[in-house]
Amino acid sequence: MSGPRKIIIDTDPGQDDAVAILLALASPDEVEVLGITAVAGNVPLPLTQKNARIVCELAGKADVSVHAGCAAPLKRKLVTAEHVHGKTGLDGPVLPDPVMPLQDEHGVDFIIRTLRDHPPGTVTLCPLGPLTNIATAFQTAPDIVGRVQEIVLMGGAYFEVGNITPTAEFNIYVDPEAADIVFKSGVPMVVMPLDVTHKALVTKPRNDAFRAIPGAVGHAVAEMTDFFERFDREKYGSDGAPLHDPCVTAWLIQPDLFAGRHINVEIETTGALTTGMTVADWWGVTDRAPNATFMREIDADGFFALLTDRLARL
Ligand code: BDR
Ligand code: CA
Repeated sequence: MSGPRKIIIDTDPGQDDAVAILLALASPDEVEVLGITAVAGNVPLPLTQKNARIVCELAGKADVSVHAGCAAPLKRKLVTAEHVHGKTGLDGPVLPDPVMPLQDEHGVDFIIRTLRDHPPGTVTLCPLGPLTNIATAFQTAPDIVGRVQEIVLMGGAYFEVGNITPTAEFNIYVDPEAADIVFKSGVPMVVMPLDVTHKALVTKPRNDAFRAIPGAVGHAVAEMTDFFERFDREKYGSDGAPLHDPCVTAWLIQPDLFAGRHINVEIETTGALTTGMTVADWWGVTDRAPNATFMREIDADGFFALLTDRLARL
């Protein structure tokens, strides 16, 4: 290995986004966070960019470069998810307003510049929200597409079908046109769909383990997962809330926690009932070329052991 993998986190925090960011910032041997770009999603952009900075400061990493990206999907009106994440997007813990600056440079310009400034194949994009920033960057600067090492994202579902509609997962549903551009880009992709993340449940003992970590981070994470657990418990009747986005950063650190198939995945953009669906050819029934490693299995105990260990390092 030639040092930590260089990544850009594209995100709409979101409590689970926050945990994904904390995990990355706690793991400098494996990942180097070149910057964080915020996008509108769980809550509007003014809140997601602020929340990204709150999380960096919680991690003690006020020097991370945080950029605001797109405020609305490519073609649609923004759909948000305050019903899951609360009014601020980061409801649960009481955290101070950030003092670290928001960068002047637009998130999309940051993505473009960073990919141009680094050797081809050395920067990985990690989208944790709607794909608006990434698609806009690809459309604005097609030369960067071939320079991306890999896209590792949370989004979509096949066996679990949908969470925001009966057939669509939230991140893809909010901006399906953007997702379509990204899935057709030809960049190697690793996808963490609901099929995986619904197995990463914050049960009471796992939440207790976060809370037992000395210092502010473990307590804040426990408060965050407590908050959105209320909604998911009611909805799914499960033992705890799924911790979606940290699956992305966990894969970068310990890929053997996950298993899936390299298959074709296309985005439905026009279906009357199915817009935003990730149509995944899991069974290989078409001759469409594989474009993504679509995960299905997770070693959940290993995943939570990794998270707890790494969060304790902050
Ligand atoms: C995804 O949607 C958001 O609410 C979460 O942050 C996650 O990225 C799950 O569908
Ligand atoms: Ca998210």
